[in-house]
Amino acid sequence: MRDAQPKTIFLKDYQVPDFLIEKTDLYFSLDEDKSVVTATLSLRRNPAATDQTAALVLHGQELVLLTVSIDGQALSDADYHCSSDSLTIQKVPDSFVLQCMTEIKPQENTSLEGLYKSNTMYCTQCEAEGFRKITYYLDRPDVMSVFTTTVEADKERYPVLLSNGNNVASGDKDNGRHWVKWDDPFKKPAYLFALVAGDLEYTEDHFTTQSGDDVTLRIFVEPKDLDKCAHAMSSLINSMRWDEDVYGREYDLSIFNIVAVDDFNMGAMENKSLNIFNTSCVLAKPETTTDAGFQRVEGVVAHEYFHNWSGNRVTCRDWFQLSLKEGFTVYRDAEFSADMGSRTVKRVEDVSLLRTVQFAEDGGPMAHPVRPESFMEISNFYTVTIYEKGAEVVRMIANLLGPEDFRKGTDLYFDRHDGQAVTCEDFVKAMEDAAGIDLTQFRRWYSQAGTPRVAVEGVYDAAAQSYSLTVEQHCPATPGQEQKQPFHIPMAMALLGQDGALPLHLDNTANAGLEMVVDITQARQTFVFNQVKEKPVPSLLRGFSAPVKLSFDYSRDDLLFLMSNDSDGFIRWDASQQLGVQVLNEMIAALQKGEEPTVDPRLITAYRSILQDESLDKAMVALMLKLPSEAYMTEISDDVDVHAIYNARTLARLTIAKQLEQELWQALRNNHCTEEYQPSALQIAQRSLKNTALAYLMLLDTQEALDAAVEQFDHANNMTDVLAAFNVILNSGFGMQKQRVLKLFYERWQHESLVVNQWFMAQAVCSVPGTLEHVKGLMSHPAFDLKNPNKVRALIGAFCGQNAVNFHQRDGAGYRFLADQIIALNSLNPQVASRLLGPLTKWKKYSEASRLLMKAELERIMAEPGLSSDVFEVVSKSLK
Ligand code: ARG
Ligand code: ZN
Repeated sequence: MRDAQPKTIFLKDYQVPDFLIEKTDLYFSLDEDKSVVTATLSLRRNPAATDQTAALVLHGQELVLLTVSIDGQALSDADYHCSSDSLTIQKVPDSFVLQCMTEIKPQENTSLEGLYKSNTMYCTQCEAEGFRKITYYLDRPDVMSVFTTTVEADKERYPVLLSNGNNVASGDKDNGRHWVKWDDPFKKPAYLFALVAGDLEYTEDHFTTQSGDDVTLRIFVEPKDLDKCAHAMSSLINSMRWDEDVYGREYDLSIFNIVAVDDFNMGAMENKSLNIFNTSCVLAKPETTTDAGFQRVEGVVAHEYFHNWSGNRVTCRDWFQLSLKEGFTVYRDAEFSADMGSRTVKRVEDVSLLRTVQFAEDGGPMAHPVRPESFMEISNFYTVTIYEKGAEVVRMIANLLGPEDFRKGTDLYFDRHDGQAVTCEDFVKAMEDAAGIDLTQFRRWYSQAGTPRVAVEGVYDAAAQSYSLTVEQHCPATPGQEQKQPFHIPMAMALLGQDGALPLHLDNTANAGLEMVVDITQARQTFVFNQVKEKPVPSLLRGFSAPVKLSFDYSRDDLLFLMSNDSDGFIRWDASQQLGVQVLNEMIAALQKGEEPTVDPRLITAYRSILQDESLDKAMVALMLKLPSEAYMTEISDDVDVHAIYNARTLARLTIAKQLEQELWQALRNNHCTEEYQPSALQIAQRSLKNTALAYLMLLDTQEALDAAVEQFDHANNMTDVLAAFNVILNSGFGMQKQRVLKLFYERWQHESLVVNQWFMAQAVCSVPGTLEHVKGLMSHPAFDLKNPNKVRALIGAFCGQNAVNFHQRDGAGYRFLADQIIALNSLNPQVASRLLGPLTKWKKYSEASRLLMKAELERIMAEPGLSSDVFEVVSKSLK
C-alpha cells in the first residue's frame, strides 16, 4: 500500500547502477509464524557510475530488518536509514560484504509477489520487482549476480527444498529440520531467483543435448496431480529439441525443474532452471483438460523454456525493455506451436487475439508503445502490447530478413550479448548488422503506440493492363503521442485472377512471382503493377504481415471469392470475418432503426459451401463458420451498442442454424472421433468442427439437438466434448437438463480445482438473463476463493470480460459489482485487482447511458483510500 501518490518513472532517466553485486548468498529459515532471510552480498562500486561517492540504496518492501553489517562489523542505527521501500547506507567502502538479516511473513502475503504460501507450499514470484519483498537488494535487471541459496525448513512438512542451479549440499538438523544448498553458476538478475519448499512429488525424464550432455527434467506437483504431467513433459522435450534445431540454442545446466502452484498471478515464470507454473498452464489429462488447455500447456512450457536464452542468458537492461524478452519469446513459442500443430489455425487464433484485445488496448487509455517511455507500476505493463504486439514486431523483422538472415541475426544477438542486460535497440542493431539492412524507420514500431490504419484503393486500367494500389497510412493519437510518423509496414500481397494468382510486375520490373511484400513507408504512396491481364481481386496483408487495420472496399462477391480461392488460409478466414462484419453491421443498423433485420443470403450460401468443401482443413471450416465475436464487433465500433451487437449476432446464428440444419447435423455426425484422445491437430480440428455444429444446432431448441448434447455430456471421454455439451445446455432453454448437468458436473469434478474453474466460468459467461445474480451467489460457493487468481478470473473476470450482455445490463449493476470486487482485491492482490479493471477502462467507447455509469464506478474506486499503485495508475489514466 502506498503512502503518497505513486511516482512516474521515465525511460529517459535511466542511469547505470551505482553498485554491482558480484555474489549473492542467501539463507532461508522457513517457519510457520515467520521466516528469516540472511543475505550476504559482495558489493562493489560500479566503475561506470557517474557518482563514485554515492550512498548505497537498496530496494526493500514489507521487511523487518533484524541486523545489518559491513565486512563483519554490525552497523548502528545512525549508520543507515530504512524507509517503506529502501535501506540507505550513507558511507560504504568501494568493495565490501554486506550482510542483512530480515524477517518476513510469507503466510500473510496475499499479493503473490515475493515469497508466499500456496496451499501448503512455499514459493516465489520475483518478476518484476518481487525480490525486494524477500530481502534488501538492488532489485533491477541490470544488476546480475551469481547466487547460492540454502533453504532450511521442517523436514516432514517440506521434504522438497528447491532453488536455482545445482543441488550442492544438504543435511539434517537435530530439531526435525533439514536444509539443502543450491548453487547457480550463471549470473542473473534477482527477478529470476526462485525458491520452493513443499511436500511435492515429481515425474522425471531426460534430454540429451546436441552436444551430448544429459539433462534431468523434473515436474514437481502435489501428489494428486502426478497423473497430469505427461503432456508438459513431452512439450518440454519438444521445446528443447526445437530450440536446438531452429535457433541452435542448447540448454546449459544438467537439471531443469518445473513446479506447479495453484495460486499464481500469471501463467508461469522462467526462473533459471526452476520454472514456476500456474497449475492451469502445466497440468493436463484428457478427462480434465480441454484441447485449448492442452495447447496452452504446450505453448507456455515452450515459452518459459525458450526464455532460458531469450530472457535469462540475455536479459533486459531495465523494465522499459520488457518486450525485448517477451515479444521475442512469444514469437518463438508461436512458431514452435505452429510447427507442432496447425500453422494456419495458430496464426488465426493469434491474430484474433491481437485484433480484439491488443487493438482495444491501443485504442484505450492505457495505450503504450512496445517500448514504453514511462510507467507508475511495472506490473501494469505485462500487456498484450508488450507480449503480442511485441511478437508481431519480431515477426515483421524475421519476414523482412528472411529465414537465413534472421537466424544470422539471432546468432549474433545471443553471441554478442550473452551474459548481458540489454535493450530493444541492441536487438534491432544485431539484426541490422547480421543482415546488412537499415531498420531506421522500422524502429518506430518500438516507440510509437497505436494501431496504424492502412486504407488501400485499387484501380484497374484495362487498356494499359495495369493495376495500381494507392495506400494511405495514418495512426490515431494515443495518450502522450499526438502526432505519429509513418511506419514501415511490410504488406505481403498477391493479385488474384479468376484462374489463380497473377504474376507480379511491380513498376514494370521482371516477374517477382505470385506473391510479394511491398514496403509501405510513406503517408501516401502508389504501387503500379504492369502486365495485369484481367481485373484482379487483391489479396492484401497475407498472413497478417503487419499489425495494422487494413481497409479495402471489397464487394461481398470479392469476399466470397477470397474465401474460396485464396491460397493463404489467413486471408480466407479474414474474408469470412469481413463478410460477417458487413452482414452484422447491416443487421445492427436495422435493429437500431427498429426495422426487421435480415441475414444476407450470400452468407448462408458461403457457409454452406464451406461445410461441403471436403478439401478444407476441418479446423479452418470451424473457424470460418464462426461469426465475428462480440469482442471484435465491439473493438471495431466507436459507439458500442452491446445489446444490438448481441441481438444481431444471435439472430444471425439462429438463421444460419435453421437454414443449414442438415449440413450441420452431418458435420456433427461425421466428426465423432472414436479413437483414443490425442491433442493432435487432426483430432482437435474434428472436435472443434463438431462442437461448432452442436452449438448452432442447440439454438434450434429441438429435442434432437438436446439429446445429442446430453449424450455427449454423459458419455464423452474427454473434457473438450464434455464442456462443449455443458456450455450449450447451460445456454439453452431446457431448465431441467440445466439443473441436472450443473449438479452432476460439480459432483463429478469437485476435487479437481482446475475443472471447478471451468464450471465457474461456464456459468459466468452464460448469456441468459439473471446471470449477474447467479454469479454473486457463486461467490459464496465453498469452492470460490477471492485469494486465488484462477478462481477470480474464472468467475469475476469471465463475467465482466466475456459476458457483455450481462455485464452491461442497463441499470449498471454489472459495473457496480466489478467495482466492489476491485475494491476488495485492491488490498488483497493489487496485480489481480488492476487486471480486472480492463472492462471498465473502455468506458468511452460505449453509448452514453453506459458510459456515465461506468465512469461513476471508476470515480468511486478512485475515491477509495489506500489504493495500490497498480490500481491507481490504471484508474487515474482511464479517467483522464
Ligand atoms: N516472465 C513471465 C512470462 O512471461 C511473466 C511474469 C509476470 N510477472 C508479473 N509480475 N506480471 O513468462
Ligand atoms: Zn515470458
